[in-house]
Amino acid sequence: MLWCGPRFVGACRRRYGPAFTLRIASMGTVVYLADPADIKAVFAGDPRIYHAGEANSMLKGLLGDTSVLVIDDDVHRDRRRLMLAPFARDAVARQAPLIAEIAAENIASWPVGTTFPVAPRMSQITLEVILRTVIGASDPARLAALREVMPRLLSVGPWQTLALSNPKLLARRPWRGLREAIAEADRLLYAEITERRADPDLGNRTDALAMLIRAAGSDVAAGAAAGSDVAAGAATGSDVAAGAAPMTDRELRDQLMTLLVAGHDTTATGLSWALERLTRHPEILARAVQAARDGDDDYLDAVAKETLRIRPVVFDVGRILKAPVELAGHLLPAGIMVVPAMVVVHASDAVYPQADRFDPDRMAGVTHSPSEYLPFGGGNRRCLGATFALVEFRVVLREVLRRVELDTTELPAERRRLKHVIFVPHRGARIRIRSRRVPPTPE
Ligand code: HEM
Repeated sequence: MLWCGPRFVGACRRRYGPAFTLRIASMGTVVYLADPADIKAVFAGDPRIYHAGEANSMLKGLLGDTSVLVIDDDVHRDRRRLMLAPFARDAVARQAPLIAEIAAENIASWPVGTTFPVAPRMSQITLEVILRTVIGASDPARLAALREVMPRLLSVGPWQTLALSNPKLLARRPWRGLREAIAEADRLLYAEITERRADPDLGNRTDALAMLIRAAGSDVAAGAAAGSDVAAGAATGSDVAAGAAPMTDRELRDQLMTLLVAGHDTTATGLSWALERLTRHPEILARAVQAARDGDDDYLDAVAKETLRIRPVVFDVGRILKAPVELAGHLLPAGIMVVPAMVVVHASDAVYPQADRFDPDRMAGVTHSPSEYLPFGGGNRRCLGATFALVEFRVVLREVLRRVELDTTELPAERRRLKHVIFVPHRGARIRIRSRRVPPTPE
């Protein structure tokens, strides 16, 4: 994920057209694709030829080498299939009240009358959501320890990223702090896994960890082919997967770490960008406040989708070719990486007229093609937590807009700053709350 900055890639697209090659030290040859037809070919291509796990291998040091993000081929298909159920629409819907409660509690501590960066607050909310809904942690001491250690793992700079992509370095002195943080997180995650396996109530639990433990070894078909967007959205919530071997503790640890890392700062950053955009667009903010008050989820969803279009959090996704492929009118050799240039497509006036305008209406009631709207990547690797992220987005946004009155600002837009593999607002999305509101009582 993330190979070059948006401005540079945009400039290359203007200069060289919709397919261009970069040769990057330490990464080799990378072919960017900005034509939706070529992107469609990649997402629909044979997963044995388009390796995403290999392209994400720099995350192995943190996520572990059995993480669903870094594996490919049949083993990826099987592991991903086992992980569908907790992220199916009905399972996610069951988590909405807890997400709202977590958000409301956090918002109650936001300062009134002073400007502050909202990104760290959003991170606290989304971390708590993952800890309680995905991991299912409830022991207060362990929750406190996880709250403390996870941000240390996610706030890594380029120096530490180097060690994560080359785990042998972790044994060396300069990286000892990072190694200790990973060891501490592992200790806490393994404790959760042991406790969950022994839980007499395992069968009734709704956290993703319990579902992953239950979701193996059965002959009953999951009813969803692993990977397709439709399947991910339409999975029935049945937590059994056809014939797959159960996950070992080590695999469970790797998947939990993956869900924590992939699902926490990404959603927090999307939410921060939403407030950064809304506070610079008074009319849209007023409509969003009304929508939150009226329970109009469609408009809040349109705000979420438009935010992720104009400020995609993960900048682009890569696939390493395992065989020669004809793409964009060229025969591309095995071994190179192809990158659907999400940020370029999202900024294309041909696809989105006046693309640099923040305009949620363009998303309302519209389903864009997966090769034109791709904040969650695509094909058999499309974000496993996309439904979860969009529900969380809607619920947290609704709580914010119902509970506080935001000041608008005429300050220039915040720039994008690279944090690990995502783009965050460079000043942390600074906002100012004018006053607190009394939220409408639920019917
Ligand atoms: C706004 C929030 C989010 C964004 C923008 C986002 C974006 C992405 C992207 C771009 C990918 C790579 C897709 C590809 O290679 O085609 C991905 C993969 C993934 N995401 Fe997300 N994500 C978000 C939230 C979440 C959440 C909440 C979870 C889970 C709790 C999650 C779990 C995953 C997993 C497990 C994968 C790996 C899927 C695979 O390789 O099969 N993500 N995400």
